[in-house]
Amino acid sequence: MKLHHRDLLVRPRRLRKSENIRVLVRETTLSVDDFIAPIFVIAGENIKNEISSMPGVYQYSIDRIDEEIDQLLVAGVTRVILFGIPESKDATGTDSYSEKGIIQRAVRHLKEAYPDLYVVTDVCMCEYTNHGHCGILDGKEVNNDTSLVYLQKQVVSHAQAGVDMMAPSGMMDGMVLAIREALDEHGFDQIPIMSYAIKYASSFYGPFREAAESAPQFGDRKAYQMDPCNVREALKEAFLDIEEGADIIMVKPAMAYLDVIVRVKESIELPVACYNVSGEYSMIKAAAEKGWIDGEEVMMESLMAMKRAGADIILTYFAKDAAKIIRKSLVH
Ligand code: PBG
Repeated sequence: MKLHHRDLLVRPRRLRKSENIRVLVRETTLSVDDFIAPIFVIAGENIKNEISSMPGVYQYSIDRIDEEIDQLLVAGVTRVILFGIPESKDATGTDSYSEKGIIQRAVRHLKEAYPDLYVVTDVCMCEYTNHGHCGILDGKEVNNDTSLVYLQKQVVSHAQAGVDMMAPSGMMDGMVLAIREALDEHGFDQIPIMSYAIKYASSFYGPFREAAESAPQFGDRKAYQMDPCNVREALKEAFLDIEEGADIIMVKPAMAYLDVIVRVKESIELPVACYNVSGEYSMIKAAAEKGWIDGEEVMMESLMAMKRAGADIILTYFAKDAAKIIRKSLVH
């Protein structure tokens, strides 16, 4: 029997009629508790430098960092991840594991001033080495196992400074196991590891390298970060890090890698994080500045897409702005 249109039984539009009903049947919601805000801490005094390729994102010296933390807390964001820009760099990234290093001092300050703020540190060598690579060099190559020894020193010093969670991002083989062992040996078995397990060699990191002053001085990171063409390899990296003791698995970048987030979420039982990286932020900001898109709407839509794909945690430079919008929509 042919169905006449007047007899349509299924009309999906019934549930889209008003905002009230749309909210009732909504499958995904964003919360301020999904976010971790990246913060750039720079050596020196009285510094608040806007990063030219990331409008609205600043490098702060420790004496001015509270300005940013206070704004985040007012917006409801209670978790940050720190990146350090040291006074000086050398071949082994000494500042990264020094008691007086920029990160160690920043963590001490923050945990004292804001005991309830959850402070994560990025664990890597690239911001601290004069060559800008994520590990220790052997000729022109990053030596995996030597780098692990330095990462161990780095995490122990972060832990001694009082950090809440570590996020190793250097893509060295065995990095999570080496860090877990070093932490446990020093009595820090309660500090979780959020591994940048699946980190692609991506051109979306461009603006970050200006922000963190960490561009490699020669070559690229393709010999340690993942090939953007691969997704089964992402699962291999995730499983390896789980075996090594990771507590949270991160996918990075996020927006162009939503399929990877889906696959990882379906395959593992750990919380999944994604890093909405600098280039993804800057593209939206730039297009919005030109009036080509509605920046706020595109921001919320893309964060929602990450959540819908399966991210439990989103590291994003939009944390503060998105949190303000979420909070506003709760009160109307
Ligand atoms: C490495 C690190 C990078 C990012 C986070 N941790 C840069 C890189 O691998 O070159 C990128 C973050 C972003 O682009 O927002 N320490």
